[in-house]
Amino acid sequence: MRPTQAPFPATRLRRARQSTAIRALTRQNTLSVDDLIWPVFVRAGEGIEEPIPSMPGVFRRSVDKVVEAAREAADLGIPAICLFPYTGLQERTEDCAGAWDPENHANRAIRAIKAAVPEIAVMTDVALDTYNINGHDGFVENGEIVNDRSVEALVKMTLAQAEAGADIIGPSDMMDGRIGAMRSALEDAGHQNVMILSYAAKYASAFYGPFRDAVGASGALTGDKKTYQMDPGNSDEALRLIERDLSEGADMVMVKPGMPYLDICRRVKDSFGAPTYAYQVSGEFAMIQAAAEHGWIDGERVMMESLMAFKRAGCDGILTYFAPAAARLLNARR
Ligand code: PBG
Repeated sequence: MRPTQAPFPATRLRRARQSTAIRALTRQNTLSVDDLIWPVFVRAGEGIEEPIPSMPGVFRRSVDKVVEAAREAADLGIPAICLFPYTGLQERTEDCAGAWDPENHANRAIRAIKAAVPEIAVMTDVALDTYNINGHDGFVENGEIVNDRSVEALVKMTLAQAEAGADIIGPSDMMDGRIGAMRSALEDAGHQNVMILSYAAKYASAFYGPFRDAVGASGALTGDKKTYQMDPGNSDEALRLIERDLSEGADMVMVKPGMPYLDICRRVKDSFGAPTYAYQVSGEFAMIQAAAEHGWIDGERVMMESLMAFKRAGCDGILTYFAPAAARLLNARR
């Protein structure tokens, strides 16, 4: 029970805000480098760090440069890095075979990071969109994004990533039944320690725009993703999806996008108490960067405030393009 507060002036809530020391002592939530997962884009080639115009400060890196980035992240104390492949239109096919090719950029990057920076956890992206000619996360048959055949392909993709040494599989596809299928395939293949962080409550969001530029999907995507990603008007459905994915063997769950969906983060954490993550997506990042570049907001302070908001909403961690910048600030404060 909440104790009754004495009336003013016995209670003066400003007392707890009077100085840096008292504010530090009474602060309820804290942000730490341990809370950060850094999404990184991998491309073909060598020695390449190619800027992404709609995501100022973010690059597509060749495998050797991704390894350098992983080294930098580990040195900053960031516990995990999440790899997203960039593929040109010519590498995309209708059968999406590149997705489970052990030699695709993402799988090569996993192996290279595990060899050079073994202490950082490597998370992956499981979805067909970066290999699909039409930019969808599943196979398209007669205009329909088909579920069960897509899940079979996603399982192959998962196994290739686990073979390459991934620590955390990140299914972002929103097909039904994929978590159970992936979990049993991983168990059967002897990958019982490989974790699944399910993009369980993923909304059909316009905030993914800059990401689709980053992975080369903007030009490819035909139509929208509304038949598999969630309707932004829904809240209870997110809980059903999270419960379903946990029951199928997800170790951790994600809400995505982040800032516009903090209410969902809070409901998920309160309902299940499972390790809960939010993805502060490309559009959220781009808005903050763009306003900061114009001098309209203080970029650093908004970055830190936005990350703290996820902790306050109950998240255990955040996937954020700000991870290295935030880690540098947090380390400097110690
Ligand atoms: C696709 C995927 C998307 C993101 C992560 N994985 C985009 C989409 O669903 O179209 C978005 C990430 C971001 O916007 O930062 N499987």
